[in-house]
Amino acid sequence: MASKKGKTGKSWQSRLTAQADGATAKLLASIDVDRALWGYDIAGSMVHARMLRKVALISAKDLKAINRGLTAVAEDLSAGVLACPVELEDIHMVIEKALIDRIGEPGRKLHTGRSRNDQVALDLRLWARDAADELTEGVRVLQKAFVAMAQAQGRIVMPAYTHTQRAQPIVAGHALMAYVEMLRRDVERLADARKRINVCPLGAGAVAGSSLPIDRRMTAALLGFSAVAANSIDAVSDRDFLAELCFACTMLAVHLSRWAEDWILYSTTEFGMLELSDDYCTSSSMMPQKKNADTLELIRGKAACTLANLTGIVTLLKGLPLAYNRDMQDDKRFAFAAVDAMRQSLPVATGIVATSRFRPARIAAGLDAGFLDATALAEYLVNHGTAFRQAHQLVGRLVAQAERLGKTLAQLPLETLREFCGRVDKDVYNYLGPARVVAHYRPEGAGGTKQLDQQIREWKKKLAR
Ligand code: ARG
Repeated sequence: MASKKGKTGKSWQSRLTAQADGATAKLLASIDVDRALWGYDIAGSMVHARMLRKVALISAKDLKAINRGLTAVAEDLSAGVLACPVELEDIHMVIEKALIDRIGEPGRKLHTGRSRNDQVALDLRLWARDAADELTEGVRVLQKAFVAMAQAQGRIVMPAYTHTQRAQPIVAGHALMAYVEMLRRDVERLADARKRINVCPLGAGAVAGSSLPIDRRMTAALLGFSAVAANSIDAVSDRDFLAELCFACTMLAVHLSRWAEDWILYSTTEFGMLELSDDYCTSSSMMPQKKNADTLELIRGKAACTLANLTGIVTLLKGLPLAYNRDMQDDKRFAFAAVDAMRQSLPVATGIVATSRFRPARIAAGLDAGFLDATALAEYLVNHGTAFRQAHQLVGRLVAQAERLGKTLAQLPLETLREFCGRVDKDVYNYLGPARVVAHYRPEGAGGTKQLDQQIREWKKKLAR
C-alpha cells in the first residue's frame, strides 16, 4: 500500500498541511552540504538493515531488496545522476525516497527503530573518524618530509631567534625538528579526538530509544565503533566530537601558520636563508622580477578559516537545550570547512618542505653578525669559576666593546678578552664562533649536531611504524 502523504508532499510529515514556499524550503534544506555524507549514510543503513533482519523486524527478502536498492542508489549518487531536490531537505530523505522508488515496500521498513537524529549523528561520526585518520596520515607525511630535510640539509649552522633577534647558533635541522615536535602533538590530539568520535549513537532514535528489540551492539560492532553511546539523549545532542576535531584542525593550522611565517621570512632577500621551489611560488602581474611565497601565505591564512569554524561550531552549541535541535543542522558547514582547509594545506606543505633548499653560503656569510657566541663565552667563564650573573655582565661589556671595534668575539686578541673577562685561557678560542658553539652543546634536546642525529634517529623509527 502506498503511504498517504500530507499536503506537504513529504513522506515523513503527514501531520502537517503547510506547503513550504521556496525560501522556507531552502532554509530547511541541508542537502547542498550533507550530500557529501552519502557514502556514510548508505553504509550505516546497510548495517542497520542487517540488524533489523537479525532481530526479525524485516524478512530475508526485505534485506536483500534493501541491499540491492541501496547499492543502486549509491551508484547513482556516485555518478552524480540522482536528483537531490531541496524539498527532500537532506541526504537521508533523498536516499530513502530513491530506495522506495526503486524497491517499494521493503524500502519503507528501513527506517524502523531509527530517526534522522541518530542517523545524522552516526553519519557525522563515521565522517569525522575518516577525517581524523586522513589528517593524521597527512601530518605524518609532512613530518617525514621535515625529517628528510633535516637529514639531508640539517647540519649547516644558522642562528636561532628569540624576539626575531639573533640569539644562539644551532644546526638548521634543529629548527626543522621543532616543527616535527609541534606536529607530534597534532597527531596526539587527533588520536584523542578519535576516541570520543568512535562511539556509536545508532539506536538512540529520536531521543529516547525505541520499544522495538533493536541490537545496538551489533550495529556498533559492524561499523567499527569501540563503544555504544550510553545515553540516548546525549547520543543525539552531542556534537563535542565535531568541536574537538575543529580544535585539532585549528591547532594544526596555527602550527602550519607559524612555520609558514618563518619560511616566508627566511626566503626574503633580507634573510636570504632559504630558496623555495618555483613550483610553490607565483609572480606578479605587474612586477616581472617577483617570486612570491603565495602558497605559504595561503597556508598561513588557513588558520583564520579553522579558527572561525571552531568558533562557529562552539557558538552553535552554546545554550542549546537537550537534545537534537535543528540549529545543529549547520554543524556540518563548520566541520567540513575546517577539515577541508587542512586537507588543502597538508599536501602542499609537504611539497614545499620536500623541495626547499637552505642557502648555506648566504647563511654562513652572515653568521658572524649578532654575537651568537656570547652566551657560550659566559658559560666558558662559568666553567672557569665565575658566577653566571657576573659572567653575563662581563661578556655584555665585552660585546659592547667588540661592537665599537667592529669585530667578532673570536677576532678579539687574548689581552682584550682578559681585560674584560679576567681569567681566560688560550683555549677560549675553541669555544668562540657559531660552529664551535654548536659542537659544544651538552644537554639532550639542545641545538647541536649530536642532538640532531639523536632526534632524527628516533623520529625515523617512529615514522616507519
Ligand atoms: N538534516 C538534519 C541535520 O543535519 C537531519 C536531522 C533532522 N532531524 C529532525 N528532527 N528534523 O541535522
